[in-house]
Amino acid sequence: MIEMEKLVSLAKRRGFVFPGSDIYGGLANSWDYGPLGTELKRNIMDAWWKRFVTQRDDMVGMDAAIIMNPKVWEASGHLAEFTDPLVECKKCHMRYRADQIDLTKACAHCGTKDGFTEPRNFNMMFKTFLGATEDAASVAYLRGELAQAMFVDFKLILDTTRKRVPFGIAQQGKVFRNEITPGNFIFRTREFNLMEFEYFVHPDEWEKHFEYWLQEMKDWLDFCGVKKENLVFHEIEDGERAHYSKRTVDIEYHYPFGQKELYGLAYRGEYDLKKHTDASGADLSYIDPVTNQKYIPHVVEPTFGIDRTVLLGMLEAYAEEQARTAEEGETDLRVVMRFPKALAPFKIAMLPLSKKDELSVPARALASKLRKRWATDYDETQSIGKRYRRQDEIGTPYCVTYDFDTLNDQAVTVRDRDTMQQERVKLDELEGYLAAKLGF
Ligand code: GAP
Repeated sequence: MIEMEKLVSLAKRRGFVFPGSDIYGGLANSWDYGPLGTELKRNIMDAWWKRFVTQRDDMVGMDAAIIMNPKVWEASGHLAEFTDPLVECKKCHMRYRADQIDLTKACAHCGTKDGFTEPRNFNMMFKTFLGATEDAASVAYLRGELAQAMFVDFKLILDTTRKRVPFGIAQQGKVFRNEITPGNFIFRTREFNLMEFEYFVHPDEWEKHFEYWLQEMKDWLDFCGVKKENLVFHEIEDGERAHYSKRTVDIEYHYPFGQKELYGLAYRGEYDLKKHTDASGADLSYIDPVTNQKYIPHVVEPTFGIDRTVLLGMLEAYAEEQARTAEEGETDLRVVMRFPKALAPFKIAMLPLSKKDELSVPARALASKLRKRWATDYDETQSIGKRYRRQDEIGTPYCVTYDFDTLNDQAVTVRDRDTMQQERVKLDELEGYLAAKLGF
């Protein structure tokens, strides 16, 4: 697997992910998505939304405010229990998560063995103030997870959509956590993107739904191009789970920096709806229209970190290989991002063989036409060999070369990213050809 330094450098060089606030010397562990990274992230989010929301009859979406009434976080248990154990080096005062270091060893920062302070619980909720005064009455929090809005709005959604249990509410968006030790590029940051849904079920049926969603998560990872051998399904033991969960399976991934969490699947039971019923006084129970049974639905929650999906998408896609060049019998090192076609930032690159109007004018017109359907890049700089390599490195599945012969035979050359095979395709058959190859 590619080393992280190489990936971070490619991400910056090609405009996938930049260090945040770069011209001011950066801000530790903050990252900005550049033009290609934004496309990749959007493609992931759109594919997820389509697969789990619009293509299903049992799922609806929502998009809640990031800042909610602080009572939400009090009721959900986040203000009291959304904590990580914090220790501090007694000498240099460097802070660590107690569960991520060996407390018997020297401090990794200053190297001394003076020891660490006793672990204390550090709350990860980001505090802010609403309005002009900074007092206790104006304290609010940036959301630490998406889920709470799905519970708080449960009744409104039930009444407005007339959905029946089992059904789910999905959301995508930013969440904020004051992590003690962020790091490893976009793996762990203090603001990050999440997509998750709360799936409401009858209490007697949660196990069936849990197994179903575990399989769905596996299928999604397959769609994202992840090799099965890079995944580990980790049943989280009693005492190790989040405060709300009765069963959790963490889906872990073999990153270059070790085996760590990618996604999670949690059985939250009736925990959240019950807490919000008790705290708000609203009745968040459900009446089965057939049996008339009244109960608080239980929740199965599949959660997917978006930034970790981008990271693993890039890790899985990256390949280096010796490939032939335009020179007879010669090869050189080719870097190719083999993104699944649906996720690739550009699907097509239009490459006229010359910058002259004779070719560039019709090539630009063709690119505009294709762009209505697929994200299409246009590049007329440098040699065709260099342009192919550039497109390989950003993972564009098909390059279309518009050459002088095109003016006579009304055909272009289409090059496949993975096989590097080239085919001559008639202009009036091009769209159909690409649609068949791309599959959308
Ligand atoms: N509602 C459930 C929930 O938020 P979580 O396990 O705390 O569960 C969900 O977080 C997912 O968010 C994780 O599986 C991971 O993909 C991602 N994630 C968690 N902390 C993160 C961080 N600091 N930076 C980037 N992604 C993170």
